[in-house]
Amino acid sequence: MADREPAQLPRHVAIVMDGNGRWALGRGKPRSFGHQAGSDALKRTIEAVMRRGIPILTVFAFSCENWRRPRAEVRKLLDLFLKALNKDVRELDEHGVRINFIGDRKVFNQTLRDGMAQAEQRTCGNTALQLNVAVNYSGRSDIVAAAQRIAAAAATGNLAAEDLTEQRLNQELTLAHLPPPDLFIRTGGEKRLSNFLLWQIAYSELYFCDVLWPDFGAEALEAALIDYASRERRFGGLSQIRVRSA
Ligand code: IPE
Ligand code: IPE
Ligand code: MG
Repeated sequence: MADREPAQLPRHVAIVMDGNGRWALGRGKPRSFGHQAGSDALKRTIEAVMRRGIPILTVFAFSCENWRRPRAEVRKLLDLFLKALNKDVRELDEHGVRINFIGDRKVFNQTLRDGMAQAEQRTCGNTALQLNVAVNYSGRSDIVAAAQRIAAAAATGNLAAEDLTEQRLNQELTLAHLPPPDLFIRTGGEKRLSNFLLWQIAYSELYFCDVLWPDFGAEALEAALIDYASRERRFGGLSQIRVRSA
């Protein structure tokens, strides 16, 4: 252990905020109650992330597949989202949070789209935390949208097939301007990605915990950070310990 680098903090944390429904049902309440509690957990988590000095947080709030849920639940989720846009953005702005939404927003009504654009504009000069909120996002559609732009460039003669590199494709993807997530957290006990960032997490450290999202906060974040600090990221290379002792 003495050979290891000092414990590292991730620069970019991505979170699949899962478990709201089960949290509510466990208390004999409707699932919507869990979503309300989930939005409080997000506020707590943003504060905890900022206190730890982590500069980038990306959260999965609504997936392209979540439209498969009952209409009433989808409406509740979108209402909560609108409420947060009206109520919480000012406070986030005061704390220096820059908000950005990722995902296809064309499907949302004008009120929601205006709220999203205003939140982005209002906070665009902030630097304390870059907060990316994924709504109507899926990793596969992110890749498809990038491929469409690449195909369009090729069709107009602006890109030759052999010039399509990983770097070039990456440029067309969401979050291209940021370092990829170092730490990917999923709460709620399921061990899957559910179509969240796919390309971007090629070398992220994955952390799954049983805590249901409404119970997440500073303490659960700390446990994830301690686990992350114990990982050795090799990116296909060799262990530093072995290299030194070879
Ligand atoms: C996550 O909690 C919130 C969204 C997917 C929008 P769930 O609603 O998926 O809660 P569980 O997984 O059913 O408990
Ligand atoms: C993933 O959770 C999506 C969000 C947290 C927004 P789901 O609850 O939708 O994922 P599955 O259905 O369990 O894979
Ligand atoms: Mg779920």
